Amino acid sequence: MTTEYENEKKRFTERYLSRDTKDQQGGRTEEIRMTPLCSLAVAHTATQSVLPQYGLLGFHAGQSEEISEKEPILLNINAPNSTFICGSQGSGKSYTLSAMLEDCVQKNKSLNKLKEPLAGVVFHYDNDSHTVAEAAHLCSLGIKVRVLVSKSSAATNLKQRYLTVSGAAKNLTVEDFVLQDRHLNVERMLKMMAFDESEGTVPLYMEVIQRILRETAITGQQFSFQKFMWDLKQERFSPGQEAMMNMRLNLLQSFMPKFATELGKDLFNIAPGTLTIVDFSDPLIDQSSACVLFDTCLALFKENRPKSGLVVALDEAHKFLNKGAAAANFTERLLQTIREQRHNATRVIIATQEPTISETSTSVGLPLSTASHPLHVTGAGDRNEVFSRIVDLNVGESLVFSPSSFVGLEGEERKPKKLGSGILKMKTRLREGIDGGRSIMAAGAGEGKKDEDPTPVPMCDTGLTESF
Ligand SMILES: Nc1ncnc2c1ncn2[C@@H]1O[C@H](COP(=O)(O)OP(=O)(O)O)[C@@H](O)[C@H]1O
Ligand SMILES: [Mg+2]
Repeated sequence: MTTEYENEKKRFTERYLSRDTKDQQGGRTEEIRMTPLCSLAVAHTATQSVLPQYGLLGFHAGQSEEISEKEPILLNINAPNSTFICGSQGSGKSYTLSAMLEDCVQKNKSLNKLKEPLAGVVFHYDNDSHTVAEAAHLCSLGIKVRVLVSKSSAATNLKQRYLTVSGAAKNLTVEDFVLQDRHLNVERMLKMMAFDESEGTVPLYMEVIQRILRETAITGQQFSFQKFMWDLKQERFSPGQEAMMNMRLNLLQSFMPKFATELGKDLFNIAPGTLTIVDFSDPLIDQSSACVLFDTCLALFKENRPKSGLVVALDEAHKFLNKGAAAANFTERLLQTIREQRHNATRVIIATQEPTISETSTSVGLPLSTASHPLHVTGAGDRNEVFSRIVDLNVGESLVFSPSSFVGLEGEERKPKKLGSGILKMKTRLREGIDGGRSIMAAGAGEGKKDEDPTPVPMCDTGLTESF
């Protein structure tokens, strides 16, 4: 005879315990649906509706009983997941980032399974080496690439440098970055006018600006830059304040439409299957201004994201996401985007030589994919053992830390196993497009060759840092 306890337990378990075996929404299946990476073997254990969109990212390069040799590793494109790639120069960060963009932005039967491509956005700022964003080379695959640059970057020939990338003639356009009144609101204006990086305080003129913006907001009218300037002219400022304010105003004004052709142009409309690169490399734009502008752009791209979703990539992020209030603000905006990635269908990929941003990212529980040395691994086994594994990596290889990924099959039943605190050694696959990142050698530059023979180059600079 069944007891009252047994009856109640049966009722609870039937109704409320995981429905994994009954339908696909239950526990484990749902976890596999959201996995950032999975092996081909795991994908084949799941029904097609669980992983409907994925792309090949690399191959297993380690030894494990649970993952076969050279097992293909797939990037789950259906569920938004974000990635942090960290490594020293030449270790293959940009290469991996471009491979991920290739997976997400273009349908390619031999490479991915994609119902509809995502729209790609790349933020680039590099005033040191004067190189173009490597993702621009995706135009060699027929992907439509649009590059947005500041008008004053004409002084450094940035436009011309983009136009000489192979495939640019057909598939790449460069446009001046222009903001319209409707792109600006009180919050964005406050951010653009407010911070004073050198003092880290709010400049005195902000009191007046806040009042003007508040009065405009109360009227409920659309923000107008012209009216804002007129209102400012009616005010009196001390010469010191006015000079500082004008510096910010002039920068902002340089992005407002000047010619009739620029009026009404909306650069933030992005289509699936296209890539937009925002490049603020320009000696007249400092790092903090670039961060404030990127912050505004990110918000606008997210507002206009297509239904299929958005992938936002930052390469060489250490060149602008470092110290200062503006960088901290932009980092926070990125982390917020990542925390809410499932609601806003936006994935973020950050590639950097500087691992410090990942401390914040681990604290918000980000799945981290970490390529090549130096690597920032938290709580992943013995320090020395991980250290020697990093030093042994070849170009293009990475140690991937992504606890929620399913890459192995365990037990006799070969059930998918979560990576958990384990580390996956992966070799990034060969790129489809042209490799624009080849090092410039003393005996001759090899720019833009299709990669057929990727001879691994031993690394000499491990650049390991304190945070490791
Ligand atoms: N997975 C890979 N397969 C083949 N070659 C690679 C791979 N990763 C990197 N490389 C080679 O190394 C070069 C440097 O890589 P890159 O991604 O530009 O380095 P980083 O961005 O880390 O400085 C690439 O241009 C490419 O030639
Ligand atoms: Mg790079």
